[in-house]
Amino acid sequence: MSPCKDPRIAILISGRGSNMVSIIEACDSNFLKAKVCLVISNNSNAEGLLAAKATGLPTKCIDHRNYDNRELFDGAVLSALTKAKTEFVLLAGFMRILTPIIIDPFLGRLINIHPSLLPKYPGLNTHQRAIDAGDKEAGATVHFVTRELDNGPAIAQTRVPILPTDTAETLAKKILKKEHQIYPLGVQLLIEKKIALEGNKAIMNGCVLPETGIIHE
Ligand code: GRF
Repeated sequence: MSPCKDPRIAILISGRGSNMVSIIEACDSNFLKAKVCLVISNNSNAEGLLAAKATGLPTKCIDHRNYDNRELFDGAVLSALTKAKTEFVLLAGFMRILTPIIIDPFLGRLINIHPSLLPKYPGLNTHQRAIDAGDKEAGATVHFVTRELDNGPAIAQTRVPILPTDTAETLAKKILKKEHQIYPLGVQLLIEKKIALEGNKAIMNGCVLPETGIIHE
């Protein structure tokens, strides 16, 4: 019998890459039985690209500014993913809006982490928006990526209280710490096929997950 191969995951980043590092560490410690087959950055100066290179993992910079439109850029990313025999794609602070060119072939195998309690605050400046709205809690959501920005079904959510003294910076720091726990958990559910995308729902053990996904304290 041929040995069971670890699933191949690619991580797409644009900046600091701390979530990427948490995934790489989770693979190294065998918490995630997966192989990071490629890290792609659209930004050659991304701190995360240096961190990935330092681990010796395959990396590729695909600068979106070298492409006339999103479709051509996504075509180049798709071709790199295909060449690396990618099975799952993780967005980790990837600051480009993807088109169906990447979303469709990886639908159900493409996830993101977003720093808000989705469906609240898709898009940018999530921490300040939660503070400005007077919310009592904020958090992060691991979710499937679908054609609608930050609107795919949630896999898991983690929450932190917003204190009166919190600024966008302090809140972001607290949430980021929890992101590093919840993202590997979400990836584990995905690669072990414990969770699946069916239509516009996340399904686990035959049941539709609630809007929040699994709550992780
Ligand atoms: C994280 O807050 C993540 O939720 C969001 O972008 C940020 C990326 O941070 N999508 P890092 O690059 O992983 O450190």
